[in-house]
Amino acid sequence: MTSTLVIDKISKKYKRKSQAAVQAVLDLSLKAQDGDFIAVLGPSGCGKSTLMLTAGGLLAADSGTVTVSGQNLYQLNNSQRAEFRARNIAYVYQEFHLIPYLNVVDNIMIADLALGEGSRDKALKLINQFGLEGRGRHLPSELSVGEQQRVALARAIYGGARIILADEPTGNLDSDNAHLVLQALKDFTENGGIVLMVTHDDRAISFANRKLTMKAGEWIS
Ligand SMILES: Nc1ncnc2c1ncn2[C@@H]1O[C@H](COP(=O)(O)OP(=O)(O)O)[C@@H](O)[C@H]1O
Ligand SMILES: [Mg+2]
Repeated sequence: MTSTLVIDKISKKYKRKSQAAVQAVLDLSLKAQDGDFIAVLGPSGCGKSTLMLTAGGLLAADSGTVTVSGQNLYQLNNSQRAEFRARNIAYVYQEFHLIPYLNVVDNIMIADLALGEGSRDKALKLINQFGLEGRGRHLPSELSVGEQQRVALARAIYGGARIILADEPTGNLDSDNAHLVLQALKDFTENGGIVLMVTHDDRAISFANRKLTMKAGEWIS
């Protein structure tokens, strides 16, 4: 199965009460396909996170379309979109958003846990793949920052999504842990996935095979 992510001329303006509106993203387009590991660069405030949220269907653009493997995200209703997202798109953030009172295995299986299903075997395989052997029963607070980020990545991959949106995934990591996370993202793309990664980190940029730079809501290169 091939995966594609097609963003066509999306614009997003934040309207603030009694303040000037902010045009966060303006007429931005992007085409990504299997194997693409794309680094999105640009100064703080230029709209990178807004792009990621719209690309993932978490934030509706004012205009333009986002199409994932042929499906226009915003032609789905909210619950259809949530379900489509859960199967197709995963997020990795600088803050990991692990659930503090669930252990590592349950955090990885979170999407299935709510449905009362899931595969512990699959979660345990990922735990081994990410060098977290023996940590399955630990809580996030008992792990280092790098280990927590690897759990977040395992959770992203567990769901079977073919697209990972990563917003500064190595921002809090030392170089060994950053390397592990980046190598895992690279492997993911080499197995046919797509990664769109916001980063300021030169190490991270060197893993990407495409680089795009934003300024004030638009691509400049
Ligand atoms: N929820 C929001 N409400 C109002 N303005 C916002 C909101 N989120 C982001 N912005 C503004 O939109 C612009 C782009 O923000 P963002 O996409 O977070 O940029 P980046 O991730 O590149 O730092 C910034 O000027 C920011 O202040
Ligand atoms: Mg941001």
